[in-house]
Amino acid sequence: MTAQEIRQRFLDFFESKGHKIVASSPIVSKNDPTLLFTNAGMNQFKDFFLGNKVPEFRRIADTQKCLRVSGKHNDLEEVGRDGYHHTMFEMLGNWSFGNYFKAEAIAWAWELLTKEYGLDPDRIYVSVFQGDESENLAPDDEARELWKKWLPEDRILPFSKKDNFWEMGDTGPCGPCSEIHVDLRPESQRSSRDARELVNIGDPLVVEIWNLVFIQFNRRADGKLEELPEKHVDTGMGFERLTMALQAKNSSYETDIFQPYIRFIEQVSGKKYTNSYAPDAMSDIAMRVLCDHIRAVSFAIADGQLPSNTGAGYVIRRILRRAVRYYYSFLDLREPFLFRLIPLLADAFAHVFPELKAQTGLVASVIQGRSNPSSTPSKTACDAWKAFRRPKA
Ligand code: GLY
Repeated sequence: MTAQEIRQRFLDFFESKGHKIVASSPIVSKNDPTLLFTNAGMNQFKDFFLGNKVPEFRRIADTQKCLRVSGKHNDLEEVGRDGYHHTMFEMLGNWSFGNYFKAEAIAWAWELLTKEYGLDPDRIYVSVFQGDESENLAPDDEARELWKKWLPEDRILPFSKKDNFWEMGDTGPCGPCSEIHVDLRPESQRSSRDARELVNIGDPLVVEIWNLVFIQFNRRADGKLEELPEKHVDTGMGFERLTMALQAKNSSYETDIFQPYIRFIEQVSGKKYTNSYAPDAMSDIAMRVLCDHIRAVSFAIADGQLPSNTGAGYVIRRILRRAVRYYYSFLDLREPFLFRLIPLLADAFAHVFPELKAQTGLVASVIQGRSNPSSTPSKTACDAWKAFRRPKA
């Protein structure tokens, strides 16, 4: 399956289960002062969970542009060094607002992964919340019992609040969660070490792909949990990781989501990508950084966040600078380069996030370090590089 087919199949599956398919909200958080960027699919539905607004549809699904570069969820420094962290990623999600709960969320996740997508059930491990005395939270025995219908008990693993109690930020809707992990190692490695020992320890081939959150609480500003009047489901599946699993790759950068950019960077830089994760494989790391960061920066700009010296704009500027530093230092590219990836990116997303294609010229121009799209580029590569590096007063 191509990545495009994988995304569409997710949406079709949940539509067939009575979900309304909605558009992604902008990647830049507009209406929530607790966030700079959208860090999860559920952000746009926060008021439905809290009971402040009544949703028109009780079941919703979508693919959401997310950015995890600040606050509680920040993966920036991981990006490039491994094959499964991203700053900008797509989160496939299905939601129930006071409608179905754990039984359906778990049964449908299993059906989609094993029947629709054909993932090998023997390679799936799940985690459940083990409870937390300090918060007076009981273990999630209900989720454990429900998973037993599909999985042997020794592949249902208890984890603490750190891994299995999901919160979007310091405050807001939250609850125990059950994560689905896939063992993507070759058979030879599988027989030498049980994947149960590798869940949640950062193994690059035993990765979490889907998080099923059972929203039951609101974390208040004073740190206390208050029970919500209704129970909700909030799931988030990493599209790039799912594609890596379904296309049987050892890295999401090997999927058809990222390969076109890698080929283009190879062509322009004259360097070969070797899919190496050695800490000193600097040109490979740089190529992954560029493929990732161009997405983050482009979608942030397309959604209205220009690079700047404060707040969200400063975060975008730092990502841009990180990308420039990598191509300048490790790919020997001396001319402004990132903006050349934008037409590829805009075409790849034209059918799903058309806002980038609609603003290709503006986004490219901003990424070249200028804000006027109609001006003729006149800066030399060195000037552009210095401008990125120079902290403004
Ligand atoms: N809201 C679920 C997740 O982001 O994992």
